[in-house]
Amino acid sequence: MLILGIETSCDETAAAVVARGPDGQGRILANVVRSQIEEHAVFGGVVPEIAARAHVELLDGIVAAALADAGVGFGDLAAVSATAGPGLIGGVIVGLMTAKAIAMTHRLPLVAVNHLEGHALTARMTDQLAFPYLLLLVSGGHTQFVAVHGLGRYERLGTTIDDALGEAFDKTAKMLGLPYPGGPAVERVARDGDPTRFDLPRPYLGRDSLDFSFSGLKTAVRQAAAAVAPLTERDVADLAASFQAAVTDVIGRKVERALERFRRATGVAEPVLVAAGGVAANKAIGAALGAAAAKVGGRVVVPPPKLCTDNGAMIAWAGAERLAAGLIDGLDAPARARWPL
Ligand code: KG4
Ligand code: ZN
Repeated sequence: MLILGIETSCDETAAAVVARGPDGQGRILANVVRSQIEEHAVFGGVVPEIAARAHVELLDGIVAAALADAGVGFGDLAAVSATAGPGLIGGVIVGLMTAKAIAMTHRLPLVAVNHLEGHALTARMTDQLAFPYLLLLVSGGHTQFVAVHGLGRYERLGTTIDDALGEAFDKTAKMLGLPYPGGPAVERVARDGDPTRFDLPRPYLGRDSLDFSFSGLKTAVRQAAAAVAPLTERDVADLAASFQAAVTDVIGRKVERALERFRRATGVAEPVLVAAGGVAANKAIGAALGAAAAKVGGRVVVPPPKLCTDNGAMIAWAGAERLAAGLIDGLDAPARARWPL
């Protein structure tokens, strides 16, 4: 069963072809991602209108490239799936309308996929993971714990009350004069920095909640930077390292708490944490996740970086799982800017 997946909810224009066997095993035949980072970098962040226009220009070519890479045509597909939200609404509309046009022209079922469900199910394709497991999604737009009990059975255990973690990295980078996207830049300079030089807050750690808050930390970084300005290379490295140490602490402790709670609720002996989203590529955070999981007798699964960040394969795979369960959508499926799991 071959599925075409389309992803356009942020600044990646992506299409992929994924095969799902009768045994539930997934295989990626093509996964084409065109990042728009260069188009947005001069603005220091994603500009929704520019993103939507770029999706319009790029998507047809990306879909054609994915089919060519896979060596298949529209006629070989069992269905077409696209992100229907949540995300930047202009981009979501472009991808979903394209999928609808393909579905109509080639008489294929349409699967309208929740982008978060795409992230949540990826590890089932890459690691043949069984339900249930705990998802930590940490990207530019999302920071949440989701207990994944089964297909369509998701329980959000915690989320950020303000900035997403990736956004906090991006804003910190901007304050430190580092390029966009900020996460990789902060991680790079933090390697040479002293994480103990600036005493930054560990927000929301005291509370018995799985929610996050990063805007106070951002303010603390700004104040610390102002206090030592003008910033030398050393100051930038130390601030980046101190910031990363603060978020790593928070994430590690919350993961421990979340896995414990998840284990109590499900009775699973060795709880699995799946990390997804661009921030999951961060080595320091990855190490903290591993240590936290080990403390509670659990383990961590991190899909390959290309499948942790936004891509078409995750949407194709979620589409394949939904199709196999008989969950298809009508051509009136709406595009949604907000769509909690
Ligand atoms: O999942 P993603 O590619 O796109 C969405 O936001 O949906 O995540 C992008 C975010 C950006 O905020 C970026 O700064 C952050 O992930 N990021 C990182 C790293 N690589 C990407 N943050 C920390 N460390 C990294 N190595
Ligand atoms: Zn995403």
